[in-house]
Amino acid sequence: MNFNEQYNFYKNAFDKLLNEFLLNYCEENLIGEAIKYSIVDAGKRIRPILCFSVCEMLGGTIDDVKKIALAIEMIHSYSLVHDDLPCMDNDDYRRGKFSTHKKFGEDIGVLSGDALLNLAFETALSNDEFQREDFLALKLLAEFAGAQGMIKGQVLDLSCENNNIAGEKELNEIYLNKTAKLIMAPILIASIYNGKKFYKELSEFGYNLGVLFQVVDDIMDYESDFVKMGKTPNKDEAENKLTSVKIFSLDGAKKLAKTYYESCLSAIKNIPNNNFLIDLTNFCYLRRV
Ligand code: IPE
Ligand code: IPE
Ligand code: MG
Ligand code: MG
Ligand code: MG
Repeated sequence: MNFNEQYNFYKNAFDKLLNEFLLNYCEENLIGEAIKYSIVDAGKRIRPILCFSVCEMLGGTIDDVKKIALAIEMIHSYSLVHDDLPCMDNDDYRRGKFSTHKKFGEDIGVLSGDALLNLAFETALSNDEFQREDFLALKLLAEFAGAQGMIKGQVLDLSCENNNIAGEKELNEIYLNKTAKLIMAPILIASIYNGKKFYKELSEFGYNLGVLFQVVDDIMDYESDFVKMGKTPNKDEAENKLTSVKIFSLDGAKKLAKTYYESCLSAIKNIPNNNFLIDLTNFCYLRRV
């Protein structure tokens, strides 16, 4: 299989699992509809694809991590629903359609984000038997998504915006927490399910990929368009966001992306069967969608 085929294979496997799960879980009511609207048929699915592919690279199977991969994407999707709220980034569009609060109202926007967060843990806990790896994976996910992880990054992002802070130290803290933690989580969790193989290298890789991912997101906000991104461009400047483009200019941000890209490749150079991971890193670096 070439890269695109492999990517789509993982994506389809994930979407099938998600649809099966939601079919059983979501009631036919307003909150069920809003949950599905926020997560079904949407997004690049980078995080579950990382989880599946790293798990396979280390000798495991998709089956080993299927529930935790669902949980990760649910948390990611909730973070987007809340990120778009008027009290945060105030975005009307997400994943090529109205953002959840725009479609269902702010009240249901908030509640469907909350519901997705709960659903993540309900999903991951829906095993009859619980192994030590399940416990370690869930613990890591809860920490990386919480007030010392993604939420911490979102708070810093807002406080730099509101207080007009434009420091490199603050930018690095934002990148690490708001984005890199939820990119590291699926990678490290895949390692946990495989006896923590290459944990140190994958931690290094995940951090660099996470920052690379956000630098590219910032670059795209500046120079891409709605059709490609599925969200409104030029929002960061309008909202006074602290981004790499703001600090280093567009060219500087592109150079920074290259540095993180190279660090990604260097971190995984000694891991066997790393071809797909290298291609996925290229995809994250060169993506314009
Ligand atoms: C968007 O994440 C938010 C950032 C961390 C930059 P993605 O670019 O992964 O969003 P989807 O899931 O593909 O919509
Ligand atoms: C969001 O960063 C990161 C999250 C934790 C959701 P952005 O605010 O830059 O993401 P987009 O551009 O709205 O997708
Ligand atoms: Mg934001
Ligand atoms: Mg945003
Ligand atoms: Mg952005």
